[in-house]
Amino acid sequence: MALVCVSDYEKKAAEILPKSPWDYYRSGSGDQITLKLNESAFNRLRIRPRVLIDVSRRDTRCNVLGFDLDCPVAIAPTAMQKMAHAEGELATAKGTINTIYTMSTLSTSSIEEVGEAAPDTNKFYQLYIYKDRELTKNLVRRAEKAGFKALVLTVDAPVFGPRRCDIRNKFELPQHLRLANFTDEKLIVQSAGGSGINEYVASQFDPTLNWNDVEWLVRFTKLPVILKGIITHEDARLALQTGCKGIIVSNHGARQLDTVPATIEALPEIVKAIGSQMTVMVDGGIRTGTDIFKALALGAKAVFVGRPVLYGLAVDGQNGVESVLKILQNELDSAMALAGVNKITEINDKFIAHESTFCLSKL
Ligand SMILES: Cc1cc2nc3c(=O)[nH]c(=O)nc-3n(C[C@H](O)[C@H](O)[C@H](O)COP(=O)(O)O)c2cc1C
Repeated sequence: MALVCVSDYEKKAAEILPKSPWDYYRSGSGDQITLKLNESAFNRLRIRPRVLIDVSRRDTRCNVLGFDLDCPVAIAPTAMQKMAHAEGELATAKGTINTIYTMSTLSTSSIEEVGEAAPDTNKFYQLYIYKDRELTKNLVRRAEKAGFKALVLTVDAPVFGPRRCDIRNKFELPQHLRLANFTDEKLIVQSAGGSGINEYVASQFDPTLNWNDVEWLVRFTKLPVILKGIITHEDARLALQTGCKGIIVSNHGARQLDTVPATIEALPEIVKAIGSQMTVMVDGGIRTGTDIFKALALGAKAVFVGRPVLYGLAVDGQNGVESVLKILQNELDSAMALAGVNKITEINDKFIAHESTFCLSKL
Protein backbone atom coordinates (compact mmCIF):
# COMPACT_ATOMS: atom_id res chain seq x y z
CA MET A 1 0.00 0.00 0.00
CA ALA A 2 1.29 3.48 -0.86
CA LEU A 3 2.33 5.56 2.14
CA VAL A 4 0.68 8.94 1.64
CA CYS A 5 0.57 10.56 5.07
CA VAL A 6 2.52 10.54 8.33
CA SER A 7 0.11 8.12 9.98
CA ASP A 8 0.75 5.59 7.15
CA TYR A 9 4.45 5.81 8.00
CA GLU A 10 3.65 5.40 11.68
CA LYS A 11 1.69 2.19 11.03
CA LYS A 12 4.41 0.81 8.79
CA ALA A 13 7.15 1.66 11.32
CA ALA A 14 5.14 -0.13 14.02
CA GLU A 15 5.18 -3.28 11.86
CA ILE A 16 8.91 -3.09 11.17
CA LEU A 17 10.50 -2.13 14.47
CA PRO A 18 11.17 -4.55 17.34
CA LYS A 19 9.07 -3.92 20.46
CA SER A 20 11.62 -2.16 22.66
CA PRO A 21 12.79 0.51 20.14
CA TRP A 22 9.21 1.00 18.96
CA ASP A 23 8.00 1.57 22.51
CA TYR A 24 10.94 3.91 23.15
CA TYR A 25 10.15 6.01 20.08
CA ARG A 26 6.40 6.06 20.39
CA SER A 27 5.67 6.39 24.08
CA GLY A 28 5.26 9.31 26.45
CA SER A 29 5.53 9.59 30.21
CA GLY A 30 3.11 8.63 32.97
CA ASP A 31 -0.46 8.01 31.85
CA GLN A 32 0.40 9.59 28.49
CA ILE A 33 -2.30 12.24 28.93
CA THR A 34 -0.15 14.92 27.30
CA LEU A 35 0.97 12.49 24.59
CA LYS A 36 -2.62 12.19 23.38
CA LEU A 37 -3.26 15.90 23.96
CA ASN A 38 -0.29 17.02 21.83
CA GLU A 39 -2.05 15.59 18.76
CA SER A 40 -5.71 15.96 19.71
CA ALA A 41 -5.45 19.65 20.73
CA PHE A 42 -4.91 20.51 17.06
CA ASN A 43 -8.34 19.06 16.30
CA ARG A 44 -9.99 21.61 18.61
CA LEU A 45 -8.77 24.39 16.35
CA ARG A 46 -10.64 25.28 13.18
CA ILE A 47 -9.14 26.93 10.12
CA ARG A 48 -11.22 29.84 8.74
CA PRO A 49 -10.45 29.82 5.01
CA ARG A 50 -10.90 32.77 2.65
CA VAL A 51 -12.09 32.14 -0.90
CA LEU A 52 -11.86 33.83 -4.28
CA ILE A 53 -8.23 34.70 -3.80
CA ASP A 54 -5.66 34.06 -6.53
CA VAL A 55 -3.50 31.37 -4.95
CA SER A 56 -1.48 30.51 -8.05
CA ARG A 57 1.75 32.05 -6.64
CA ARG A 58 2.03 29.85 -3.57
CA ASP A 59 5.41 29.45 -1.96
CA THR A 60 6.23 27.57 1.24
CA ARG A 61 9.76 28.98 1.43
CA CYS A 62 10.64 31.08 4.45
CA ASN A 63 13.51 32.50 6.47
CA VAL A 64 13.89 31.31 10.04
CA LEU A 65 16.70 32.58 12.30
CA GLY A 66 18.52 33.75 9.17
CA PHE A 67 18.27 30.37 7.39
CA ASP A 68 16.48 30.07 4.04
CA LEU A 69 14.25 27.00 4.19
CA ASP A 70 12.02 25.27 1.63
CA CYS A 71 9.31 25.01 4.22
CA PRO A 72 8.96 25.99 7.92
CA VAL A 73 9.29 22.36 9.05
CA ALA A 74 12.53 21.48 10.87
CA ILE A 75 13.79 18.28 12.45
CA ALA A 76 13.63 17.93 16.23
CA PRO A 77 16.46 16.10 17.99
CA THR A 78 15.65 12.47 18.70
CA ALA A 79 18.08 10.09 20.36
CA MET A 80 19.56 6.81 19.16
CA GLN A 81 18.42 6.78 15.55
CA LYS A 82 20.40 3.68 14.55
CA MET A 83 17.75 1.62 16.32
CA ALA A 84 15.43 2.77 13.51
CA HIS A 85 17.80 2.26 10.57
CA ALA A 86 21.43 1.19 10.11
CA GLU A 87 22.40 4.65 8.81
CA GLY A 88 20.62 6.42 11.68
CA GLU A 89 21.51 10.09 12.11
CA LEU A 90 23.54 10.13 8.89
CA ALA A 91 20.46 9.27 6.83
CA THR A 92 18.35 11.85 8.65
CA ALA A 93 20.93 14.61 8.26
CA LYS A 94 21.35 13.85 4.55
CA GLY A 95 17.58 13.69 4.04
CA THR A 96 16.96 17.13 5.50
CA ILE A 97 19.09 19.25 3.24
CA ASN A 98 16.55 22.00 2.62
CA THR A 99 15.56 22.56 6.19
CA ILE A 100 17.14 22.41 9.67
CA TYR A 101 18.38 19.12 11.08
CA THR A 102 18.90 18.98 14.85
CA MET A 103 21.21 16.27 16.13
CA SER A 104 20.71 14.85 19.63
CA THR A 105 23.54 14.62 22.13
CA LEU A 106 22.38 11.02 22.64
CA SER A 107 23.10 10.04 19.05
CA THR A 108 24.38 6.76 17.71
CA SER A 109 26.55 8.58 15.12
CA SER A 110 29.18 11.07 16.19
CA ILE A 111 29.18 14.83 15.72
CA GLU A 112 32.08 14.51 13.27
CA GLU A 113 30.43 11.72 11.25
CA VAL A 114 27.27 13.80 10.81
CA GLY A 115 29.29 16.93 9.97
CA GLU A 116 31.11 15.04 7.23
CA ALA A 117 28.10 13.14 5.87
CA ALA A 118 25.87 16.20 5.51
CA PRO A 119 28.06 19.27 4.88
CA ASP A 120 25.28 21.16 3.08
CA THR A 121 22.50 20.61 5.61
CA ASN A 122 21.75 23.38 8.13
CA LYS A 123 22.77 21.45 11.23
CA PHE A 124 21.89 22.40 14.80
CA TYR A 125 23.35 20.54 17.77
CA GLN A 126 21.08 19.70 20.71
CA LEU A 127 22.96 19.90 23.98
CA TYR A 128 22.34 18.27 27.33
CA ILE A 129 24.48 19.71 30.10
CA TYR A 130 26.41 17.00 31.90
CA LYS A 131 27.60 17.07 35.51
CA ASP A 132 31.03 16.84 33.90
CA ARG A 133 31.40 20.38 32.54
CA GLU A 134 34.64 19.65 30.68
CA LEU A 135 32.83 16.97 28.75
CA THR A 136 29.98 19.42 28.03
CA LYS A 137 32.40 22.10 26.82
CA ASN A 138 34.09 19.56 24.61
CA LEU A 139 30.77 18.64 22.95
CA VAL A 140 30.14 22.32 22.21
CA ARG A 141 33.59 22.84 20.70
CA ARG A 142 33.25 19.70 18.59
CA ALA A 143 29.87 20.87 17.24
CA GLU A 144 31.31 24.29 16.41
CA LYS A 145 34.24 22.68 14.60
CA ALA A 146 32.07 20.21 12.67
CA GLY A 147 30.03 22.99 11.06
CA PHE A 148 26.92 23.02 13.25
CA LYS A 149 25.20 26.41 13.08
CA ALA A 150 23.33 26.68 16.37
CA LEU A 151 23.05 25.01 19.76
CA VAL A 152 19.66 23.84 20.98
CA LEU A 153 19.85 23.64 24.75
CA THR A 154 17.21 21.32 26.18
CA VAL A 155 15.95 22.81 29.43
CA ASP A 156 13.14 20.44 30.39
CA ALA A 157 15.21 17.41 31.36
CA PRO A 158 16.88 17.71 34.80
CA VAL A 159 15.83 14.05 35.01
CA PHE A 160 13.91 11.97 32.47
CA GLY A 161 10.16 11.49 32.83
CA PRO A 162 8.83 8.08 33.83
CA ARG A 163 8.22 6.27 30.57
CA ARG A 164 6.54 3.11 31.69
CA CYS A 165 7.13 1.09 28.54
CA ASP A 166 10.88 1.61 28.88
CA ILE A 167 10.76 0.54 32.52
CA ARG A 168 8.78 -2.61 31.65
CA ASN A 169 11.07 -3.39 28.72
CA LYS A 170 14.21 -2.64 30.78
CA PHE A 171 15.15 -0.51 27.80
CA GLU A 172 18.80 -0.49 26.73
CA LEU A 173 20.70 0.16 23.53
CA PRO A 174 21.20 -2.99 21.45
CA GLN A 175 24.70 -4.44 21.97
CA HIS A 176 26.02 -3.40 18.54
CA LEU A 177 25.17 0.30 19.11
CA ARG A 178 26.66 2.96 21.35
CA LEU A 179 26.28 6.64 22.17
CA ALA A 180 28.80 7.69 19.56
CA ASN A 181 29.87 11.04 21.03
CA PHE A 182 31.44 9.43 24.06
CA THR A 183 34.41 7.13 24.47
CA ASP A 184 34.11 6.66 28.22
CA GLU A 185 33.10 3.07 29.03
CA LYS A 186 30.69 4.33 31.71
CA LEU A 187 28.60 6.30 29.24
CA ILE A 188 26.54 3.43 27.90
CA VAL A 189 22.80 2.87 27.98
CA GLN A 190 22.40 -0.38 29.87
CA SER A 191 19.60 -1.38 32.22
CA ALA A 192 20.42 -1.95 35.86
CA GLY A 193 16.86 -3.13 36.41
CA GLY A 194 14.73 -0.27 35.06
CA SER A 195 14.90 1.96 31.97
CA GLY A 196 18.56 2.13 30.93
CA ILE A 197 18.14 5.62 29.47
CA ASN A 198 16.60 7.03 32.66
CA GLU A 199 19.38 5.47 34.70
CA TYR A 200 21.97 7.00 32.36
CA VAL A 201 20.38 10.45 32.61
CA ALA A 202 20.11 10.27 36.40
CA SER A 203 23.81 9.51 36.69
CA GLN A 204 25.12 11.92 34.00
CA PHE A 205 22.88 14.98 33.47
CA ASP A 206 23.22 17.97 35.76
CA PRO A 207 19.98 18.46 37.74
CA THR A 208 21.29 21.76 39.16
CA LEU A 209 20.90 23.34 35.69
CA ASN A 210 19.48 26.86 36.02
CA TRP A 211 19.29 30.24 34.24
CA ASN A 212 22.91 31.07 35.14
CA ASP A 213 24.02 28.06 33.12
CA VAL A 214 22.14 29.36 30.09
CA GLU A 215 23.98 32.67 30.37
CA TRP A 216 27.24 30.76 30.76
CA LEU A 217 26.58 28.80 27.57
CA VAL A 218 25.63 31.91 25.60
CA ARG A 219 28.96 33.45 26.62
CA PHE A 220 30.96 30.26 26.07
CA THR A 221 29.89 29.36 22.54
CA LYS A 222 30.32 31.18 19.26
CA LEU A 223 27.00 29.74 18.07
CA PRO A 224 23.52 31.16 18.59
CA VAL A 225 21.70 29.38 21.43
CA ILE A 226 18.07 28.28 21.24
CA LEU A 227 16.22 27.08 24.34
CA LYS A 228 14.03 24.01 23.89
CA GLY A 229 11.39 22.98 26.38
CA ILE A 230 9.69 26.20 27.50
CA ILE A 231 5.93 26.10 27.93
CA THR A 232 5.05 29.11 30.10
CA HIS A 233 5.16 32.84 29.43
CA GLU A 234 7.08 33.31 32.70
CA ASP A 235 9.99 31.21 31.47
CA ALA A 236 9.77 32.73 27.99
CA ARG A 237 10.25 36.19 29.52
CA LEU A 238 13.28 34.94 31.47
CA ALA A 239 14.70 33.49 28.25
CA LEU A 240 14.63 36.99 26.76
CA GLN A 241 17.20 38.13 29.31
CA THR A 242 19.73 35.39 28.60
CA GLY A 243 20.94 36.44 25.18
CA CYS A 244 19.58 33.32 23.52
CA LYS A 245 18.25 33.75 19.98
CA GLY A 246 15.06 31.75 20.03
CA ILE A 247 12.92 29.26 21.86
CA ILE A 248 11.19 26.05 20.94
CA VAL A 249 7.90 25.68 22.78
CA SER A 250 8.14 21.99 23.60
CA ASN A 251 7.11 19.42 26.16
CA HIS A 252 9.70 16.96 24.85
CA GLY A 253 7.10 15.06 22.86
CA ALA A 254 5.17 14.46 26.11
CA ARG A 255 8.03 12.41 27.53
CA GLN A 256 8.75 14.52 30.62
CA LEU A 257 6.06 15.85 32.99
CA ASP A 258 2.73 14.27 32.15
CA THR A 259 -0.44 16.41 32.16
CA VAL A 260 1.34 19.59 31.05
CA PRO A 261 -0.51 21.44 28.27
CA ALA A 262 -0.24 20.42 24.66
CA THR A 263 2.37 22.66 23.07
CA ILE A 264 -0.17 24.17 20.67
CA GLU A 265 -2.15 25.22 23.79
CA ALA A 266 0.95 26.78 25.39
CA LEU A 267 2.07 28.59 22.24
CA PRO A 268 -0.32 31.63 22.32
CA GLU A 269 0.69 32.90 25.79
CA ILE A 270 4.35 32.69 24.79
CA VAL A 271 3.90 34.41 21.45
CA LYS A 272 1.95 37.14 23.22
CA ALA A 273 4.70 37.59 25.81
CA ILE A 274 7.83 37.56 23.63
CA GLY A 275 6.88 36.88 19.99
CA SER A 276 7.76 40.38 18.84
CA GLN A 277 11.23 40.18 20.42
CA MET A 278 12.43 36.64 19.78
CA THR A 279 11.91 33.79 17.31
CA VAL A 280 9.33 31.43 18.76
CA MET A 281 9.05 27.93 17.32
CA VAL A 282 7.08 24.88 18.44
CA ASP A 283 7.15 21.08 18.39
CA GLY A 284 4.84 18.33 19.60
CA GLY A 285 2.11 16.35 17.87
CA ILE A 286 2.56 17.87 14.42
CA ARG A 287 1.46 15.25 11.92
CA THR A 288 -0.26 17.09 9.04
CA GLY A 289 -0.09 20.22 6.92
CA THR A 290 -3.11 21.66 8.69
CA ASP A 291 -1.30 21.21 12.04
CA ILE A 292 1.60 23.24 10.63
CA PHE A 293 -0.77 25.89 9.29
CA LYS A 294 -2.41 26.21 12.73
CA ALA A 295 0.93 26.54 14.54
CA LEU A 296 2.03 29.26 12.11
CA ALA A 297 -1.34 30.99 12.51
CA LEU A 298 -0.77 31.09 16.27
CA GLY A 299 2.58 32.79 15.78
CA ALA A 300 5.23 30.06 15.50
CA LYS A 301 7.90 30.90 12.93
CA ALA A 302 8.60 27.21 12.31
CA VAL A 303 7.59 23.81 13.61
CA PHE A 304 9.85 20.89 14.51
CA VAL A 305 8.89 17.26 14.04
CA GLY A 306 10.27 14.36 16.06
CA ARG A 307 8.50 11.02 15.70
CA PRO A 308 7.34 11.50 12.07
CA VAL A 309 10.99 11.58 11.01
CA LEU A 310 11.80 8.46 13.03
CA TYR A 311 8.93 6.68 11.30
CA GLY A 312 10.22 7.74 7.86
CA LEU A 313 13.73 6.66 8.84
CA ALA A 314 12.55 3.26 10.09
CA VAL A 315 10.54 2.57 6.93
CA ASP A 316 13.07 3.63 4.28
CA GLY A 317 16.16 5.38 5.68
CA GLN A 318 17.07 8.66 3.98
CA ASN A 319 14.31 8.19 1.36
CA GLY A 320 11.74 7.74 4.11
CA VAL A 321 12.88 10.92 5.87
CA GLU A 322 12.70 12.83 2.59
CA SER A 323 9.23 11.42 1.84
CA VAL A 324 7.83 12.39 5.23
CA LEU A 325 9.14 15.93 4.82
CA LYS A 326 7.75 16.15 1.27
CA ILE A 327 4.35 14.95 2.47
CA LEU A 328 4.27 17.65 5.16
CA GLN A 329 5.37 20.32 2.69
CA ASN A 330 2.74 19.26 0.13
CA GLU A 331 0.04 19.16 2.78
CA LEU A 332 0.99 22.64 3.98
CA ASP A 333 0.93 23.89 0.39
CA SER A 334 -2.54 22.39 -0.05
CA ALA A 335 -3.79 23.98 3.21
CA MET A 336 -2.44 27.34 2.03
CA ALA A 337 -4.20 27.04 -1.33
CA LEU A 338 -7.50 26.10 0.25
CA ALA A 339 -7.26 28.78 2.95
CA GLY A 340 -6.47 31.52 0.43
CA VAL A 341 -2.81 32.12 1.21
CA ASN A 342 0.24 32.54 -1.05
CA LYS A 343 3.05 33.17 1.42
CA ILE A 344 4.00 31.80 4.82
CA THR A 345 4.09 35.35 6.20
CA GLU A 346 0.42 35.82 5.26
CA ILE A 347 -0.69 33.12 7.72
CA ASN A 348 -1.99 34.81 10.88
CA ASP A 349 -4.45 34.37 13.72
CA LYS A 350 -7.40 35.57 11.63
CA PHE A 351 -7.28 32.16 9.97
CA ILE A 352 -7.92 30.26 13.15
CA ALA A 353 -10.59 29.85 15.81
CA HIS A 354 -10.99 27.54 18.78
CA GLU A 355 -13.87 25.08 18.52
CA SER A 356 -15.61 26.82 21.46
CA THR A 357 -16.18 29.80 19.14
CA PHE A 358 -18.61 27.62 17.24
CA CYS A 359 -20.50 26.35 20.28
CA LEU A 360 -24.04 25.86 18.94
CA SER A 361 -25.63 25.96 22.40
CA LYS A 362 -24.75 29.68 22.54
CA LEU A 363 -27.11 30.39 19.62
C1 LIG B 1 12.29 8.88 20.61
C2 LIG B 1 12.50 10.30 21.00
C3 LIG B 1 13.75 10.72 21.41
C4 LIG B 1 13.96 12.05 21.76
N1 LIG B 1 15.22 12.44 22.08
C5 LIG B 1 15.45 13.74 22.40
C6 LIG B 1 16.75 14.20 22.68
O1 LIG B 1 17.71 13.45 22.65
N2 LIG B 1 16.90 15.51 23.00
C7 LIG B 1 15.84 16.38 23.04
O2 LIG B 1 16.02 17.56 23.34
N3 LIG B 1 14.60 15.98 22.73
C8 LIG B 1 14.37 14.69 22.41
N4 LIG B 1 13.12 14.28 22.09
C9 LIG B 1 12.03 15.28 21.98
C10 LIG B 1 11.94 15.83 20.55
O3 LIG B 1 13.04 16.66 20.28
C11 LIG B 1 10.67 16.65 20.32
O4 LIG B 1 10.53 17.60 21.34
C12 LIG B 1 9.41 15.80 20.23
O5 LIG B 1 9.68 14.56 19.62
C13 LIG B 1 8.35 16.53 19.42
O6 LIG B 1 7.17 15.82 19.42
P1 LIG B 1 6.70 14.84 18.23
O7 LIG B 1 7.51 13.59 18.37
O8 LIG B 1 5.26 14.63 18.54
O9 LIG B 1 6.95 15.54 16.92
C14 LIG B 1 12.88 12.96 21.73
C15 LIG B 1 11.62 12.52 21.33
C16 LIG B 1 11.43 11.22 20.95
C17 LIG B 1 10.06 10.79 20.49
